[in-house]
Amino acid sequence: MKAIKIGILGLGTVGSGVVKLLQDNAHKITNITGCELKVKTAVVRNVNAHRNVDLTGIELTNDFTKLLNDDEIEIVVEVMGTVDTAREYIKRLLQAKKHVVTANKDLIALHGPELSELAKENKCDLFYEASVAGGIPILRTIVNSFAADQVESVLGIVNGTTNFILTQMTQNGLSYAAALKLAQEKGFAEADPTNDVTGKDAAYKMIILTQFAFGKDITLDEVKLAGIDGIQLEDIKEAAQLGYTLKLLGIAKLINGKLAVSVGPVLVNNSRPLAAIQNENNAVLVTGKAVGETMFYGPGAGELPTANSVLSDIIAVTKDIVLQTTGSRFNDYSQKIEFAKAND
Ligand code: NDP
Ligand code: HSE
Repeated sequence: MKAIKIGILGLGTVGSGVVKLLQDNAHKITNITGCELKVKTAVVRNVNAHRNVDLTGIELTNDFTKLLNDDEIEIVVEVMGTVDTAREYIKRLLQAKKHVVTANKDLIALHGPELSELAKENKCDLFYEASVAGGIPILRTIVNSFAADQVESVLGIVNGTTNFILTQMTQNGLSYAAALKLAQEKGFAEADPTNDVTGKDAAYKMIILTQFAFGKDITLDEVKLAGIDGIQLEDIKEAAQLGYTLKLLGIAKLINGKLAVSVGPVLVNNSRPLAAIQNENNAVLVTGKAVGETMFYGPGAGELPTANSVLSDIIAVTKDIVLQTTGSRFNDYSQKIEFAKAND
């Protein structure tokens, strides 16, 4: 049986979940792929920190080159965050012909096309299902299941932290600061939660969704952006009295042939399904010309839901390795339509 060795960059919330899921479901994964998948090396900042996961058989190091230069390692999972360091590392990994799976939406939104091109040149896979909507398998769904349709809009709740904060403020009367602290403790928020609360994290996800749904690479300054950092408990109470729930929504929509992409707080009528999405859960509505409105719901952040999406990518890479079909772009089959510039 073929053994596939995996390297992992980062062993925090998501990285620990990846190791746990691989261990817990090893037998099933082997049955599906015909391969034995094992994490060999994990790169972290602090090798002495306590880890809430069984590290038997895994070498911990803070030396990235140890992983890079290990010819046995075929797949590397990047779950450390950062943009510049992760970009540098992933470029070097792809040049060394290693396949990469990442959950890093900042990196993919800012440098995805460049890295995907590099992956293709090196006949490597670069997959990033976990970068959008955590545990919801939304990217593969759009690229596969909407292949014969034309997407007209993609919208929804794509940041778990802000939805958690708004839910806690609405239902439990928590202050904004207390709700954010709780989201951080639960591992939903980014290491620096600024991008969550200002809407930037959601904007990065909308950039990636726009690539998949419309085949269009847009930049952050093309997304009309507002966050929830100015929201007061009073705003939420007033909305509730009127029958509305405040949600941070990302919207990418074709309007008269032009694509408009935005992120901001929206008052959602309580009769609409998005009003009922609570805590760290996300929901993405994809409307196709043929199929009409569809909705995908599930945990948008957190250790095991996110790790499950990472594992789906690892399994997809493994199948590509076995079938010798590595090197296609993740969004190769997304629709390509000519648009005017976003938000014109
Ligand atoms: P954490 O902060 O919990 O973990 C980060 C890990 O990366 C830590 O183990 C840290 O090491 C390591 N690390 C950070 N910088 C470096 C570096 N320069 N060199 C080596 N190791 C480094 O992050 P998360 O697990 O929450 O998130 C990881 C990624 O996944 C991010 O890109 C995030 O946006 C994304 N993501 C997170 C989700 C979530 O729910 N948390 C959901 C979807 C995506 P050490 O432990 O020693 O400090
Ligand atoms: N901080 C992000 C969120 C993690 O809360 O949605 C998942 O991408």
